Amino acid sequence: MTQPVREWVRAARRIAVLTGAGMSAESGVPTFRDAQTGLWAKYRPEDLASEDAFRADPGMVWEWYQMRRQMIAKVEPNAGHRALAAFERRHPGRLTLVTQNVDGLHQRAGSQGVLALHGNIADDKWLDEPRDCCVSQAAARGRPPRCATCGNLMRPAVVWFGETLPVAALRAAEAAAADCDLMLVVGTSGVVYPAAGLARMASGRVVVINPQPSDLDDAAHEVLRGTAATLLPQLLEEE
Ligand code: APR
Repeated sequence: MTQPVREWVRAARRIAVLTGAGMSAESGVPTFRDAQTGLWAKYRPEDLASEDAFRADPGMVWEWYQMRRQMIAKVEPNAGHRALAAFERRHPGRLTLVTQNVDGLHQRAGSQGVLALHGNIADDKWLDEPRDCCVSQAAARGRPPRCATCGNLMRPAVVWFGETLPVAALRAAEAAAADCDLMLVVGTSGVVYPAAGLARMASGRVVVINPQPSDLDDAAHEVLRGTAATLLPQLLEEE
């Protein structure tokens, strides 16, 4: 089943890869739409990952991110992350890696120049435009930390629902999609745009890697029903 795709990988001059939460599932990070367990089970991601939610209850949303940060700090990149990073090292300039994930696992596996469309959960930024008082002193401790003078809050530097993606990263991802011979779409449900739209813009063949049906299966020339950590090494490693 993977043999034709292995041939496509070998023949492709430019490969674009779009990853989603399923990429990190085998590292032990629950996928976005499965992450709501225990205390958080009653919330939908859209109810926590938005500016409105944060303004309504900054402490609660901050705690949710702290829980996810602690979980991510304990896990390691898996064989799929490593296969992508190793391919990039062996073939400089041939692969563009675009991710919706904020967990930083591609970067920790050694991938360079990752286009992180939704930011990185390890980073913070000011909620409102920082004033002189915000930048002239360290944020006061707190959950979340705040400016001791004006009360501006720190928030996770991730892209929330309703927010625009980082322009340079999105443009670069669109350019990679529009000029690829092959796009691998790994571990995404394909429901969140504009990221999912990249698969529909691909100039080359599209291969979906996902153990379950996704909204992007109809855009695929081939659907591989398997996991990222199993299939990516098979597709990308040379014998
Ligand atoms: N290997 C590959 N795919 C997997 C694996 C695995 N081991 N395990 C699960 N999957 C698939 C699921 O079948 C599902 O299609 O990964 C997908 C995960 O989907 P979501 O949880 O919806 O994650 P994602 O598509 O990345 O969400 C997109 O939505 O909530 C926002 O900003 C957030 O970046 C996120 C975006």
